[in-house]
Amino acid sequence: MNTKQHMTATITLVGPFVQVLPMAGLPAAGPIADIQLQVIEQAGVLVQDGRIVKVDAYKELAQEAKEKNYQLEPVVSPMVLLPGLIDAHTHICFAGSRANDYAQRVAGKSYLEIARSGGGILDSVRKTREASLPELVLLLKQRCDRHLSEGVTTCEVKSGYGLTVEDELKMLEAIQLVNAQHALDLVPTCLAAHTLPPEFSDPRAYLQHIQEELLPQVIKQQLAKRIDIFIEDTAFTEEVALDYLLAAKALGMEVTVHADQFSTGGSRIAAAVGAVSADHLEASGEAEMALLQQAGTVATVLPGASLGLGMGYAPARKMLDSGLCLAIATDWNPGSAPMGDLLLQAALLGAAEKLTTAETLTAMTCQAARALNLTDRGTLSAGQLADMIAFPTADYKDILYFQGKLKPAMIWKNGIRI
Ligand code: NIG
Ligand code: FE
Repeated sequence: MNTKQHMTATITLVGPFVQVLPMAGLPAAGPIADIQLQVIEQAGVLVQDGRIVKVDAYKELAQEAKEKNYQLEPVVSPMVLLPGLIDAHTHICFAGSRANDYAQRVAGKSYLEIARSGGGILDSVRKTREASLPELVLLLKQRCDRHLSEGVTTCEVKSGYGLTVEDELKMLEAIQLVNAQHALDLVPTCLAAHTLPPEFSDPRAYLQHIQEELLPQVIKQQLAKRIDIFIEDTAFTEEVALDYLLAAKALGMEVTVHADQFSTGGSRIAAAVGAVSADHLEASGEAEMALLQQAGTVATVLPGASLGLGMGYAPARKMLDSGLCLAIATDWNPGSAPMGDLLLQAALLGAAEKLTTAETLTAMTCQAARALNLTDRGTLSAGQLADMIAFPTADYKDILYFQGKLKPAMIWKNGIRI
């Protein structure tokens, strides 16, 4: 069934669950102690028209359901319910594999060396340009199937392997087509500023071309309202990025930035333009964190890129302690982060960085919603989308304890069981 068209006035009681973690009413930024996490025992959820009406003790809700003749959706084995996971940073619209890059990297070559010798992102650009729109749609759909089956109910997807007006539009159209067909909600982002394409030698001239020829079409066709840029030696400098992002902002776009992955600088630009999120931040220090905190920019860290590149994690603990809102995303892409398992990566990051269970779980739910500026999801509370995942356990602590191996057994998108 197409969950995006499901409409009914009937109220359904889903449950009982051994525990429900609504992830609501928590700090918008800074550290979160486990004691702040609300855990409702023996709870149920009332759902209507794809949204949550109420989360409460199952006994009470069952009584109400009986009186008012609600539908029942029984849960017969011990389950812990959480909001659906939100992956706020991916590049899953691509063709081809970069297993060769990976083999070179594990043998000692660096990501930047491979990029400088014409491999890396440009290799995926060549293969994505060669792919037809239907081919891209199929590849993206397959990755969405896997993500949804692992509990991801909202996923950001970037363009950025086209790097011509035509090929960037093809990628964004593929994302729009899959979003219309798939239960998983996709949030598109235009990353035409991923790296300089071979057709151009002047970064400023390329970005000017994108700004004039691509962005108006992206906006007109409602293909994306978010803009991203990779600020790094091998991609774009701070100076050209600033002008490009200000121009995109003037067109009404929201900004996110690939910042401080290998060297600092990107976060300064993200803060200067009031970006919704700055992502990566492996190289960030105290000064960078302070700038992002003052700007109210969400810090989205990407442990999958650290794992894929064999490099250190972003300083997530320090980010929280300096008052930042922390989101964790996969960065799923063919180059630096081929794995794409959000729960596993977040669990590993949490263990290494000493994050509380509350901090790791919020970083994939309510705080990840903030990273995408989405106010209708990320918590289980009245009025929110009924995007819910149930883990086959009686204790929510098992979710991170098993480091990604305990997968959700039941998944609902917009109140519909997948
Ligand atoms: O987020 N850092 C730049 N972009 C991606 C990698 C994309 C690629 O290597 O294909 C990232 O890691
Ligand atoms: Fe990325």
